[in-house]
Amino acid sequence: MSVDLVVMPNPEEAAAIAATLLADAVRAGESIVVAGGSTPRRAYELAARLEPDWSGAELWFGDERCVPSDDPHSNARLVRESLLAHLAKPPRAVHAVPTELDPEAAAEAYDAALQGVSLGLVLLGLGSDGHTASLFPHAPSLQATGRLAVAAEPGLEPFVPRVTLTVQALASGRRVVFLAVGADKAEAALRAFGEPPSPATPASLVRSTAGKTTAILDEAAAALLRDSGEREEPTR
Ligand code: 6PG
Repeated sequence: MSVDLVVMPNPEEAAAIAATLLADAVRAGESIVVAGGSTPRRAYELAARLEPDWSGAELWFGDERCVPSDDPHSNARLVRESLLAHLAKPPRAVHAVPTELDPEAAAEAYDAALQGVSLGLVLLGLGSDGHTASLFPHAPSLQATGRLAVAAEPGLEPFVPRVTLTVQALASGRRVVFLAVGADKAEAALRAFGEPPSPATPASLVRSTAGKTTAILDEAAAALLRDSGEREEPTR
């Protein structure tokens, strides 16, 4: 399951590549899956500058922490603050995970909402343990079949219940793009993008079944991959 590696000199340039891909997906009018955590914040800020009109696109969340939407741990809050607040025209729809429900009910509602949706760009992060979205190593969620979203227990902080898209849902995207920077992601990046797929590294299981899979890394995150010779030039 091949991955195109795009290695940039620093986090800012890695974010800029991700922002360009986000803007392209917006202009194509796609249903876009956005990542949580902290890494994509800069990419969202840059994407809002590149393309302030998101009215042709819809947003979905690759995962969400089951906390109120104003909680510092909320991915909806991250996207609201770093992206939506800076747009001239908001997305046609922002599909937040209904975290006011209990995790199982929220997952079932999100699963139902995703049925029949053709996902375009799927932006993902990478945890230092190799997780992506809220798909954690060896978790039952990795085996979920027939579901596009499930409830998940956290494997890393913040230790709150989660809702996550499944491997099947994430891989259905037209293009899967991972964004990971920093030396603390180097070992996970090697396992995710330089070694055979394994449930020990959920990110290694997510590859687009409809198109390309790209990993945008900075030099630090790519340090253990550099000698694999898989370097690619930045592509749109
Ligand atoms: C989440 C994210 C998660 C994230 C990784 C990396 O909700 O936490 O979706 O998969 O991408 O944990 O997080 P950082 O970008 O903060 O390192």
